[in-house]
Amino acid sequence: MEGKTVLVTGGCGAIGSNLVKRLLPNNKVVTIDDLSEGFEKNLDLTHENLTYVNGSILDRALLGKVFDDHSFDVVFHLAAAFANQKSVENPRHDLEVNIDGTMFVLEECRKHDIPRVMYASSSSSYGPGNGDPFTELMVPDPSTPYAVSKLAGEYYSLVYHKVYGLNTTIIRYFNSFGPGEWPGKYRNVIPRWFDMALKGKPLTIRGTGEATRDFTYIDDTIDITLLAVEHPKAIGQVFNSGTGTPTKVIDLANKINGLTGNPGGLETIQMPHWDNVPDRLASIGKAKELLGYNPKVSLDEGLRKTYEWFKSQEDYK
Ligand SMILES: NC(=O)c1ccc[n+]([C@@H]2O[C@H](COP(=O)([O-])OP(=O)(O)OC[C@H]3O[C@@H](n4cnc5c(N)ncnc54)[C@H](O)[C@@H]3O)[C@@H](O)[C@H]2O)c1
Repeated sequence: MEGKTVLVTGGCGAIGSNLVKRLLPNNKVVTIDDLSEGFEKNLDLTHENLTYVNGSILDRALLGKVFDDHSFDVVFHLAAAFANQKSVENPRHDLEVNIDGTMFVLEECRKHDIPRVMYASSSSSYGPGNGDPFTELMVPDPSTPYAVSKLAGEYYSLVYHKVYGLNTTIIRYFNSFGPGEWPGKYRNVIPRWFDMALKGKPLTIRGTGEATRDFTYIDDTIDITLLAVEHPKAIGQVFNSGTGTPTKVIDLANKINGLTGNPGGLETIQMPHWDNVPDRLASIGKAKELLGYNPKVSLDEGLRKTYEWFKSQEDYK
C-alpha cells in the first residue's frame, strides 16, 4: 500500500504497532489508542508520517474530530479490550469497548464514506469446534464474553456492508505472536512464557499440554491484514488468519525452554473452566484462494525472532 492516508485504531498494541510500522514509510498514518493495553514505546512517535492521538474510541467527540481532520482511504479497526480471561472477569467492559466502540468507528466510517475498512476479529468466535480445522463457513459458537463481543463486531461490520454499502472485511486472527507484544496477566501464551523463561521460572501449562493451537508470526499477520483492504474480492468477507499448522502447547513450551536454556522447566496448572477448546487450527484455504495469502514464517523462525526482540529490550538485558 502506498500514498494512502490510513487510520489504525489500537496502534500502540501488539498487532497495531506492527501494522503502523509496515505502513509508515509509504503512507500517512493516524492512530488512536488509550494505552489501556498498548505502549507508546512500540512506536516512533516522532516519525514524520505518524499522527498519534492518545484517547479512547469511546470518546465520540474525539473520534469524530479524528475523522473530520483527515480524509482516510483505509481504516483498520484493531482497538479492543483483550482478551478471554479479562472478559470473564469484566464482561461489561468488553461490551463497551468491543461492541459500542466498534459501532462508533463504523458510524464514523459510514458518515465519512471511507473506501475500505478492516475489522480485527478473533478465532475465539468459533468456540470449541469439533477438532477439525475451523473454516469460515462454520457456525460461530462463542464461549466467553470477549468472543461474543468480537463476533458482534463482525456482524455489525457485515451489516454495515450489506445495509450501508461500506466496504468492510473481517479477519479472524488465530494466536498472532512476535515483537511488540509485551507479557501480562491477560496476554497470549508466547510473550508470557518468554517472560517466565527469561526470569528462569517454570512455564505454566494449563491442563495436559496436549491441546493444539495455530501460532502465526506477526509478519504473516500483517500480510493478511493488508491483503484484506487491497483485494476487491475481500469486501464483505470473513477470513481466517493462521498458518494451517497445529502445534501442541507442550511442544511450544519445550521449544521456548530449549531456545532460552530456561532451567525452570514446566509446571502444570488447572485449565480455566471457560477454556473448552482442545484444538484450534485455522483453515486458510479461503485466504489463499481469494487473497493470495501465503504465510512464510515457521514457528521456529518466529520464536527465534521473538526471542531476539525480548533480549534487545531494556527489561531483559
Ligand atoms: N493477538 C492475537 O493473537 C489476536 C487474536 C485474535 C484477535 N485479536 C484482535 O486483534 C486486535 C489487536 O490485537 P492485539 O493483540 O494487538 O491487542 P492489543 O491489546 O495489544 O492491542 C489493542 C490496542 O487497543 C488499545 N485500546 C483498547 N481499548 C481502547 C479504547 N477504548 N480506545 C482506544 N484504544 C484502545 C489498547 O491500548 C491496545 O494498544 C484486537 O481487536 C484483538 O481482539 C488479536
